[in-house]
Amino acid sequence: MPQIVFTPSGLHTDVPVGTSVLDVARSIGVDIDSVCGGRGICGRCQIEPSVGSFPKWGLVVGESALSSPGDTETNYRGKRPLGAGCRLSCAALIAEDVVIDVPASSQVHRQVVRKAVDLTNVVVDPVVSLHYLQLGPNDDGISATELVCAGLLDQHSISARIDSRVFPVIVSVLNKERGHVTVAVSRSAGTPMVVGIWAGFTDAIFGLAVDIGSTTIAGHLCDLSTGEVVASGGRMNPQIRFGEDLMSRVSYVMMNPGGEVELTKSVRRALDELSAELCDEAGIAPDLVLDCVFVGNPVMHHLLLGYDPVPLGQSPFTLATSESVQGRARDLDIDLPFASFYVGPCIAGHVGADTTAAMLAEGPHRGDTWQLLVDVGTNAEIVLGTATASFAASSPTGPAFEGAQLVSGQRATAGAIERVRIDPETLAPRFRVIG
Ligand code: FES
Repeated sequence: MPQIVFTPSGLHTDVPVGTSVLDVARSIGVDIDSVCGGRGICGRCQIEPSVGSFPKWGLVVGESALSSPGDTETNYRGKRPLGAGCRLSCAALIAEDVVIDVPASSQVHRQVVRKAVDLTNVVVDPVVSLHYLQLGPNDDGISATELVCAGLLDQHSISARIDSRVFPVIVSVLNKERGHVTVAVSRSAGTPMVVGIWAGFTDAIFGLAVDIGSTTIAGHLCDLSTGEVVASGGRMNPQIRFGEDLMSRVSYVMMNPGGEVELTKSVRRALDELSAELCDEAGIAPDLVLDCVFVGNPVMHHLLLGYDPVPLGQSPFTLATSESVQGRARDLDIDLPFASFYVGPCIAGHVGADTTAAMLAEGPHRGDTWQLLVDVGTNAEIVLGTATASFAASSPTGPAFEGAQLVSGQRATAGAIERVRIDPETLAPRFRVIG
């Protein structure tokens, strides 16, 4: 009988050919949503089959692991559109060994991802400032960019250029409120650049800060003028289906030519979804987000930027670059039309931009006495520093956080036992389960 493995839960079983994915999921307690009861109407049961080699479970999964889409899926017109590469689990039947990812949007009890932010002692100093312009009619027939540049010089004494991300909308924005516009000017590149434009008066712009962990991705949307965090959220890192720990993901790339493209796509898609979710929660339009900062360990850093992670899997663990990297959010497939991104510098082969960010926040390198900074995640980093010297090291934390190599257990996600009590009198056990 074919074997079916569900990620991120890791639950697996053998099933007869022709069983629907939803039926198997229900029989072994995998959390998949279903509002229509498997009638192919609600679209809540979407899953994403993975293709390739999965050494952790000893499986090689081909394209024909699930039945081809039948009438239910090809005629599906539900409210929730079928995602790219997704299938309806109530309609897809098992044909061969298969690894199935259950995205967070299809889980009833999705993992609670909480990473609070403490913004004490932060000095707000954004590189972007807003300027309101009242531009008259374009009597000289000059271009829209020339009109805005002249207005900025005349009304705010700023000599700026216009970034090409503004070109597609500049004329329609100018026409909306008779030339009354607000522009955002960035000084990050030395020369002031107009990086955003809105019709009328706008007085709030936002920045996104995201920590891309091996297991979870946590993001905070901040008001760039007040520093206030207006929305926070997180999700599981969808790369988990390619391997729970960093080295498994590097091995996946080594054994599946082109695998790095899938890993890059999946993390970029998660960032795109997270940014949309945070804008939604804060009730703001995505074009008001102007800056993004991403940090992560070196493997996450390389996969996000589309760099080959294989050299990080073997000594001497050579980084493609330890420098910070900047660009436009759209270059990373994140739909924030005016946003730039900044990925912090890495420190060494397995000490990444997340450690740089932790050092900047906690400042062991600024103190007079030795301080020890420990970041315990799926990968743990330790920094020992003073104002004169700093030392850093890292190590995987193993099954405790990753669930890697566990055959009779799971990570602390929905379904895991989180508390056990034994009655001293009756010896009757009671336990509590996450979710
Ligand atoms: Fe509703 Fe599959 S359960 S579409």
